[in-house]
Amino acid sequence: MEWRARVFDSLSLPALILKPNRVIVSANENFLKKYGIGKEQILGRTCHDFFYQSKDTCPYENCPLPEVLDKNRGHSILRRVTTPTGEEKWEDRVFSPILDDRGEVRYIIESIRDVTEVKALEKELSGIREFTSKLIQSSTSGIVAADRQGKILIMNKAAEELTGYCMRQSGKALTVLDLYPEGMAREIMKRLRSEDFGGVGKLLSTRVNFINARGEEIPIELTAAIIYEGGEEVATMGIFNDLRPKLADEERMTHMLARVAHSEKMASLGQLAAGVAHEINNPLTGILLYANMLMESMDTDPAKKQELKNIIEDAQRCAEIVKNLLTYSRQTDKQTEVIHINSLLDYSLNLIRDQRLFIQIDVVKELSDEMMLVQVDKNQMSQVIINLVINAVDAMNRQGTLTFRTYRDKQAQKVYLEVADTGCGIALENLSRIFDPFFTTKEPGKGTGLGLSTVYGIIKENDGNISVKETGSKGTTFLVELPSFQLQQDSENEAASDLLM
Ligand SMILES: Nc1ncnc2c1ncn2[C@@H]1O[C@H](COP(=O)(O)OP(=O)(O)O)[C@@H](O)[C@H]1O
Ligand SMILES: [Mg+2]
Repeated sequence: MEWRARVFDSLSLPALILKPNRVIVSANENFLKKYGIGKEQILGRTCHDFFYQSKDTCPYENCPLPEVLDKNRGHSILRRVTTPTGEEKWEDRVFSPILDDRGEVRYIIESIRDVTEVKALEKELSGIREFTSKLIQSSTSGIVAADRQGKILIMNKAAEELTGYCMRQSGKALTVLDLYPEGMAREIMKRLRSEDFGGVGKLLSTRVNFINARGEEIPIELTAAIIYEGGEEVATMGIFNDLRPKLADEERMTHMLARVAHSEKMASLGQLAAGVAHEINNPLTGILLYANMLMESMDTDPAKKQELKNIIEDAQRCAEIVKNLLTYSRQTDKQTEVIHINSLLDYSLNLIRDQRLFIQIDVVKELSDEMMLVQVDKNQMSQVIINLVINAVDAMNRQGTLTFRTYRDKQAQKVYLEVADTGCGIALENLSRIFDPFFTTKEPGKGTGLGLSTVYGIIKENDGNISVKETGSKGTTFLVELPSFQLQQDSENEAASDLLM
């Protein structure tokens, strides 16, 4: 056998030799084996006749031969074929020209390589790639990956939403330095390379801020990792979540706990106060009774009479305190009625109208004439107003301007009353304590410290709120907020005029 034929036979790929007119002049052992045929069944036939049982040549776009003949150059084509057993296979058919001395194509070698496995792997790989990309994109956590220089390579949808940046948008390349406040990106890298924050290459959950596209700082919870390839750092990735909702929840929680603690304190102090008041009330009644009896049977010694008078006066003061304590703990029955806030104010001021208290005080009323009904216990509420007034007058040392304002927020269904004085103001360090029972800055015998705590309790009981709106060297404004009483729309005006009469 000619050596050329032997070379051809020993090719590990099935191969044919064709003439330019497509007639098959040779087929190697591997080819005959692959198709299970003898030489006589193929030699002398054209390739289109053998492969497709067709008298005509294949369409130009399906056959690489014309290209090989035109350009005297090898060419290949990828084909999907179905084997006689029905299997789908991918074949890479390579056509290589054999040129004569003049450089013309004399023969063409066609070899067939089975690339089914490669194709399958390729498909699997692109499937994995697509899946990974979907996984990253659909994560509700923000995911960002950057190369060694810090240039952002991947930013998923959640990260884009949170940062306000858009990766597809042109413009300058985004880097991790753009995402963090100054020095932070470097600090994160430092921690990533250190052993102390989850091991080298890892950063366990950390609270940091980043800067969004609008320049705002946003608190996030971040975990990060370095991606290595063959022991070399090639990229970094970070996964993060917006901390704002969590922080808001925490704040709400702390607030609520503080409120609960406060009202619990008030309640237990109320019980204590009520207990003490009841205990003292009985002996006190006795003291007053016997002192008065003594007073009546007393001889005319004026000095002794005066001493007895002092006893009675002090005992009466005690009785007054006990009464205050009982009101503070509100051991009295509550009777609510619907009343206009302006009428309530007038009613309360009337109760203290005659006092010398007001001699040097200008009273200003800035009252809205809108519908401002509240459903409250009139006597309790007048105590609120009187307490606020007495405190204001005290703070002004009985000289100054006392302003009352009423208004409403229709949408929020709230009615407001402001009591403003031009007094000494409340020191900052006392602000958080003024509503505590027994807190007073007044000298002994003047203040009991029960006024504002009583006010607070009553307002809370009426589903309202009281706060210091403003305080300073120019005076203090207390703001009382009450739920407005809602009438049926059509009867509103009628009822209002009744109530205002
Ligand atoms: N309008 C006000 N201006 C300045 N300080 C005030 C005012 N109202 C209350 N305070 C402060 O709050 C404290 C507590 O008030 P309160 O509970 O009524 O007790 P009391 O009047 O018996 O001291 C007062 O001692 C005073 O320091
Ligand atoms: Mg007071």
